[in-house]
Formats: sequence, structure tokens, C-alpha cells
Amino acid sequence: MTTKVITWLDQRLGLTAIYNLVLDRKVPKVNWWFTFGSASLFLFVLQGVTGVFLAVYYVPDPVKAYDSVQFIMNGVAFGWLIRGIHHWGATLMVIFVFVHMLRTFFMGAYKFPREITWLTGVVLLLATLGMGFTGYLLPWNQRAYWATTVGTEIAGTAPLIGDFILRILRGGADLSAVTLARFFAVHIWFLPAVIIALIGVHMYLIIRLGISSVPTDDEQ
Ligand code: HEM
Repeated sequence: MTTKVITWLDQRLGLTAIYNLVLDRKVPKVNWWFTFGSASLFLFVLQGVTGVFLAVYYVPDPVKAYDSVQFIMNGVAFGWLIRGIHHWGATLMVIFVFVHMLRTFFMGAYKFPREITWLTGVVLLLATLGMGFTGYLLPWNQRAYWATTVGTEIAGTAPLIGDFILRILRGGADLSAVTLARFFAVHIWFLPAVIIALIGVHMYLIIRLGISSVPTDDEQ
């Protein structure tokens, strides 16, 4: 029965062709350092899933944000678990993306023909850091408030355009309801959209070009 359903779908959707192209590829002899890209991808999906659940109860309003997080922790079934996974997943994702970047750098995987894979990676790293920065404010507790005050202050010290950047980030001179609304929108809409689009290009290139192999002595 299952085989019949799969064959029926395959004849109409071309599933075998997609499977062969995406998953059934020849991979050179690699090692554990090559797993950090896939691990980053897994964490991004995990962040997406737990983030959607958090968004069910979180309220991006200065009066309600703190209490809504407390409610997630104490009132929602497994809310503490979902928030804990999202919190530690964020930290782990930054570390994994960074290790992945170091791996591709030290193995020279950014060289021809993988320059665009590297460039999309650079923006992915910045977007991942941006997710951490915008997410940190959302609990709207003392630590979040002052960390963002300092973070935006640092951005404000950039020469010439510093004040402009600070006002764009805060939505005014000081942290306010506008800042929280802005950070929330960037955290759940803008940056995830950028990351999804870039992962699409990143993955397309990995499928198209294949994965590079571990550099050998005679390649220097
Ligand atoms: C959300 C972040 C990212 C995800 C999900 C991701 C995912 C992946 C995956 C699954 C691969 C396949 C090979 C492997 O795992 O090593 C890969 C390869 C690659 N990535 Fe990333 N990546 C990310 C960020 C980055 C960053 C920050 C850089 C560099 C600035 C980068 C540069 C590359 C390059 C050059 C390759 C080709 C490696 C090769 O062919 O050996 N990626 N990426």
C-alpha cells in the first residue's frame, strides 16, 4: 500500500529525481569538521520551530513582554523547555556557524569555484549574530534592557553615521516600545527571511558544486 502511494506520488511529483539530486550525491572522504554546516542548519530549523511556539504566548509590548515570558516559563505546559531549547540553541548556533566558517577557511574551501558559497556564508553569519542581538531584548528584563542600551550605544559610536544607526536601531533617541516592536519584527520576520533565502542559495551551490575534500600536502 505504502509503495503504491509513493509510486503514485513519484510519477506525478518526480520525487526520485529530487531525492537523487539532493541526497544521493557522491561525497569525498571527509571528517567531523565537515558536519558543522549541517549542524548549523539543524539548529536553525530547531530555532524556527521553538520560536513559532514561543510566539504563540510572547507579547512584544513593554507592559506585557516580561510577564508573557514569565507565563511561558511557569504557566504554559513545557514552556520552560521550549524557551530553554530556544535560548541554548541560539548560543550553540552562533558557535557552530563560527566553527563551520573557520573549517571552510582553514581548509581553503572558499576558493574557486566556491567564492559565492563563502559570500552567502558571511551574510549568514552576520544575520545569525543579528538574530542573537535582536532576540536578547525580547524578554524585556533588566539584563535585556541594559545590554541593548549598551549594544546600540556601541553602534552609535561609528564615525559620521553613528547617530543615524543608533536612531534607526532604537526608533528614537532612547529605548522604547518602538525599539521592542522593531527588534521583534526583525527577529521573527526580517532576519529569518534573509537567512532562509541565503540558506537556499548556499545549499543550491553545495549541491551544484559538491563538497570540497580535505586538503592534502601536495595541494600547497
Ligand atoms: C546559518 C549558517 C550556515 C549554514 C546553515 C550553512 C550550511 C552549510 C552546509 C550544510 C554545508 C555543506 C558542507 C559542510 O557542512 O561543511 C556548507 C558548506 C559551506 N559553507 Fe556554510 N553554512 C552556514 C554559514 C556559513 C558561513 C558563516 C560561511 C563562511 C563565511 C560558510 C561557508 C561555506 C563554504 C565555503 C562551504 C563549502 C564547503 C566545501 O565545499 O567544503 N557557511 N554550509
